[in-house]
Amino acid sequence: MTYPIRPIDESEWPSFARVTEEGFGWTPHPKEMERYKRETEFDRTLAAFDGDLIAGVTSIFSLTMTVPGGRMPVAGVTSVSVLPSHRRRGILTSLMRRQLADVRERGESVAALFASETPIYGRYGYGRAAHELSFRIRTSGSAFTANAPADPSLRIRVARPADVRADLERLFASVVDRRPGRYDRNARTWDNVLADEEFDQHGAGSLRSVLAEDDEGVRGYALFRIKASWDGNGVPDGELRLRELEAADPAAYALLWRSVLDRDLVSTVQARTRPVDDPLIALIADQRQLRAGWSDELWVRVVEVERALAARAYSAAVDVVIEVEDDVCPWNAGRWRLTADPSGAECKPVEDAPDVTLPVAALGSAYLGDGLLMESAAAGLLREHSPGSVRALATAMSWSPKPWAGLGF
Ligand SMILES: CC(C)(COP(=O)(O)OP(=O)(O)OC[C@H]1O[C@@H](n2cnc3c(N)ncnc32)[C@H](O)[C@@H]1OP(=O)(O)O)[C@@H](O)C(=O)NCCC(=O)NCCS
Repeated sequence: MTYPIRPIDESEWPSFARVTEEGFGWTPHPKEMERYKRETEFDRTLAAFDGDLIAGVTSIFSLTMTVPGGRMPVAGVTSVSVLPSHRRRGILTSLMRRQLADVRERGESVAALFASETPIYGRYGYGRAAHELSFRIRTSGSAFTANAPADPSLRIRVARPADVRADLERLFASVVDRRPGRYDRNARTWDNVLADEEFDQHGAGSLRSVLAEDDEGVRGYALFRIKASWDGNGVPDGELRLRELEAADPAAYALLWRSVLDRDLVSTVQARTRPVDDPLIALIADQRQLRAGWSDELWVRVVEVERALAARAYSAAVDVVIEVEDDVCPWNAGRWRLTADPSGAECKPVEDAPDVTLPVAALGSAYLGDGLLMESAAAGLLREHSPGSVRALATAMSWSPKPWAGLGF
């Protein structure tokens, strides 16, 4: 059975949104639903129809994302859902195939997404490309190392986030190109980041902010909520839930963390999504106090091998023939010679014998620089024909800092 696929127009929004509500078991507040509709790019939606019924959906945000050495357009895949009555009939598979063809036609060479479950997207050529840590730390064990940076010209200013939105936007825009995986925010993204309805608060009160600044201006900010409480003995036991902490330099970064960790009446600081190489780890004197959970974050799909591999920078020189396996985007299948060094890269189709054979998902995993090719090689998931070629490719594709989006889409 086939289910015709096409973008929806605005009049069909309620039926489109209904599929995501059912698929995710999501009961949005009407204002949350308004936000969802406002941020949707209708010309980038796709719906699969069973007669008049929308049975499956997906959509894309047109992002500009930081990649190693540069920035590029990336298709941010979102709103993937199939009605429970229509699951496991191949609807997602047809949506994904159509979507990837559309992405290619539009000229984007990379797609990225956040997965609700990890087993779903590998079959469509997406690879796990970035990771996140979630921290929990008792403030009593949060002292910094003695040589932590300090800048006496810096001070902390307490401000309502809505009052300093322009400062937050400016600061974020100044750091967005520093780490692969980060992407530009438009006005609607900021509306969501700063949203502060009761249902946004999850019982932890208003969104608060502190700025680190000097006489020249703002050098960083932290956004957080505080769930105030006292234990049975009347001892303060508040929890600070960090939403974001961005800084232009290490001294502002350290001061903002100190401000958060030293907040009166707070015994625990929780940060749900932080990069795996968060400098905080090096700043804390007693690192075992940082209780960390680890999870996947961005998944990346290389949609056009030739353009995608030539578009990013490389940490080391490499000259390797990669044989790519790709059933979903057959234009990628074949042999590609990647010649790259820190000054530039070229990727061209060739007939030469391959140095390594890999599934396209492995290239997606490595694309933002997380260094996952060596992990895949150690797990026996790649085929190396020329000894040392995987290590050379992995070294060239790895990057510091590690990729991290920091904000889901
Ligand atoms: C995930 C979801 C979109 C899959 O849709 P679907 O139309 O049932 O998927 P398909 O029928 O095209 O499945 C294709 C293949 O993926 C597998 N698959 C699909 N969802 C899977 C999952 N959650 N876990 C593991 N495998 C899954 C199927 O078993 C099938 O495998 P096969 O080709 O070996 O038979 C749907 O189950 C859903 O809406 N889930 C809830 C919302 C959600 O999690 N969306 C993803 C957001 S990131």
